[in-house]
Amino acid sequence: MLDVKTFHMDSFIPMPYEEALSPRLKLAQDKLQNGSGQGGEFTGWVHLPRDYDQAEYARIKAAAAKIRKNSKALVVIGIGGSYLGARGVVECLQSPNYNLKKKDTPNLYFVGNALSSDAMGEVMDLIDGVDFSVNVISKSGTTTEPAVAFRFFRNLLEERYGREGARERIFATTDRLKGALKSLADSEGWETFVVPDDIGGRYSVLTAVGLLPIAVSGVDIDALMRGAASMMDQCTVPGYECPAWRYAAARYQLYRDGRAVEILGCFDPAFRMMAEWWKQLFGESEGKEGKGLFPASVEFTADLHSMGQYIQQGKRLMFETIVRFGSSARQLNVPEDAEDGDGLNFLAGRSMDFIRDKATEGTLLAHTEGGVPNLIVEAGERNAETLGQLIYFFEYACGLSGYLLDVNPFDQPGVEAYKKNMFALLGKPGYEAQKSELEAKLQK
Ligand code: PA5
Repeated sequence: MLDVKTFHMDSFIPMPYEEALSPRLKLAQDKLQNGSGQGGEFTGWVHLPRDYDQAEYARIKAAAAKIRKNSKALVVIGIGGSYLGARGVVECLQSPNYNLKKKDTPNLYFVGNALSSDAMGEVMDLIDGVDFSVNVISKSGTTTEPAVAFRFFRNLLEERYGREGARERIFATTDRLKGALKSLADSEGWETFVVPDDIGGRYSVLTAVGLLPIAVSGVDIDALMRGAASMMDQCTVPGYECPAWRYAAARYQLYRDGRAVEILGCFDPAFRMMAEWWKQLFGESEGKEGKGLFPASVEFTADLHSMGQYIQQGKRLMFETIVRFGSSARQLNVPEDAEDGDGLNFLAGRSMDFIRDKATEGTLLAHTEGGVPNLIVEAGERNAETLGQLIYFFEYACGLSGYLLDVNPFDQPGVEAYKKNMFALLGKPGYEAQKSELEAKLQK
């Protein structure tokens, strides 16, 4: 079972801090459980692993089976919470090289998460002559990046399969009732999946938003949901038995003590996109009203040879949270070499996991001695069930953390600022007044 540990924390923050934080965590816990805090109308994810819509879940599985049958590629269109979770889970459990592997499931291409003509054009080239389907995901149904990308890929589908044929290949995941995408889907007769009203983008990976592309890749979504449900059960009981309480308390105490940055690290490169998901989750939930830890991520050991210098000796801004997985699925041992020209025979016969674990311990000691506190999340074996636990654990800890900071962990008012400017500068109807004002500022 997932566990959270602190390492030599007494050299950094006054102990014991947990008892003093208990009443505030209890309040935060009640707000999450009852939806009674700021943004409480967006706490549908708290009981989602128990209360999810079974009929929709069956439709997700059926759609995934259909896509696997008639397509060699699925183009997943979405941004932020409408894409990072799915990509994180697929890369973590299947592989960062998923598309390059020999397999009987479709390749996945993630688009609509940038405004790069080159990046999108490349995906168009990659699916040229390949049977494909599209899953367009947008809760609001109006976000510019995915909406623009969808125009291109819908055209491609309709050119290739005709309007009728395209109808069999477009899956829209959006609001139950409103938004341009929902209206389009209804008028065109595309199959739709719902982003529940009470679940915001970055907490939506365990809804159709994440589950459809994840299921297409062949990941066992039942196991993912089972893992999330077991963590939900643990988190329902208030107290430090709950790993999310321990994590939220330690990181909040470090924040109060002056740490400004939390670096999430993992010694498994497959975790890279899960770290991106985590950065959005915490960055968008906590970073407001001049508060919040800045979430950063590193990939070890690669970044020990680059960012490792700063972490060891740079400005003491940060603490680290290390996600540790157990044994690898595939065991590789270092080969013996009779001549030992590279002097590596002291490792001959040792497993890569053994070397990784010693590197982890060495890093932990070095960084702690360098003045960087470390938290460790023991995630267990890397599989669908443990990843479900980890996802729910981070979501719950994030909700608790937002309430400890006294912010609304479920809104993102800051994201609107760039959008308004972009719409005005692009000449979107309704933004005429701001356009000339912004253009004048750009001339200065
Ligand atoms: O967490 C969030 O709410 C955001 O990151 C959204 O997921 C992101 O902006 C995409 O929004 P939408 O799904 O409405 O296109």
